Amino acid sequence: MKRIGILTSGGDSPGMNAAIRAAVRYAIYYDMEIYGIHRGYEGLIDGEFEKLDRRSVADIMQRGGTALRTARSERFMTPEGLERAARNLDTFKIEDLIVIGGNGSLTGAKVLSDKYGVNVMGIPGTIDNDLAYTDNCIGFDTALNTVLDAITRIRDTSSAHERTTVIEVMGRKCGDLALYAGLTGGAEYVLVPEFEGDINELCQKIIESANVGKLHSIIIRAEGYSVSSVDLVEQLKERTGRDVKLVVLSYLQRGGSPTFRDRMFATECGVKAIELIRDGARNRAIGELEGEVRDFDLGEALSVEREFRQDLFRGVDILSK
Ligand code: F6P
Repeated sequence: MKRIGILTSGGDSPGMNAAIRAAVRYAIYYDMEIYGIHRGYEGLIDGEFEKLDRRSVADIMQRGGTALRTARSERFMTPEGLERAARNLDTFKIEDLIVIGGNGSLTGAKVLSDKYGVNVMGIPGTIDNDLAYTDNCIGFDTALNTVLDAITRIRDTSSAHERTTVIEVMGRKCGDLALYAGLTGGAEYVLVPEFEGDINELCQKIIESANVGKLHSIIIRAEGYSVSSVDLVEQLKERTGRDVKLVVLSYLQRGGSPTFRDRMFATECGVKAIELIRDGARNRAIGELEGEVRDFDLGEALSVEREFRQDLFRGVDILSK
């Protein structure tokens, strides 16, 4: 009987549980054994394996976080850690491993496959949306909705006090959360790592907005932007003479019940991973392209370069004038 391992790694993202549930129940449906590995690559190194059955994944789909728990593993990046991880898979006779995570996690999976021949199926799970081969990542939609909800609330109080508010969002080196939330939340400006932006232009815009009677300005700053939030707020205060507040959304963005879109995509990814393993496919990355869930060669997928949506960036400016 085929034995599969499944783990979640890196930052958790809402919807990971739906992917785990789908993979576990489809694996059992196709007469395979499936082992949950706790705490990502840390648990892989320490041998924290648990055989899962249909009931193990009951009542998890609607929850954020990950039932398998997660970690960022420094040890997995060392040759010793990698070897221990591979040895544990060997001991449990697991030849196929499903990894749900972001860029770093899928890159780690590829190393395991290159060096030790483990067959890996990568599922994109990260609120950062920083995997270029796929149009969507599990958790991105829920996080966006959380950010939008925050913008709506902050806008109310910013208007009441005629303030400028800088909202810092996550994303690591990727500005997608900031860009998409800025566009659909009606922000005046977004600052993202992919594009230097111009703080003079931003100050000008804040002043002009106030002059035409706008009661507030909302600026979305991606955490990876070159100027820190605190420095930015100071510069804006000084150069515009306005009252400027900072709201850092931080880990709020990672929690919460997943949206329909995240549950659906995650479920399809979990099913796809199992069907690929059943069909003997090797080292694939699952993702979404043109609205369809598809699979790609893992190595090729990880080498795709991200394209920044300049059109959306311009759209934020044009729409908020
Ligand atoms: O990878 C997702 C992410 O949420 C990033 O946007 C953020 O920088 C990071 O995780 C923070 O994660 P932690 O502090 O849990 O390592």
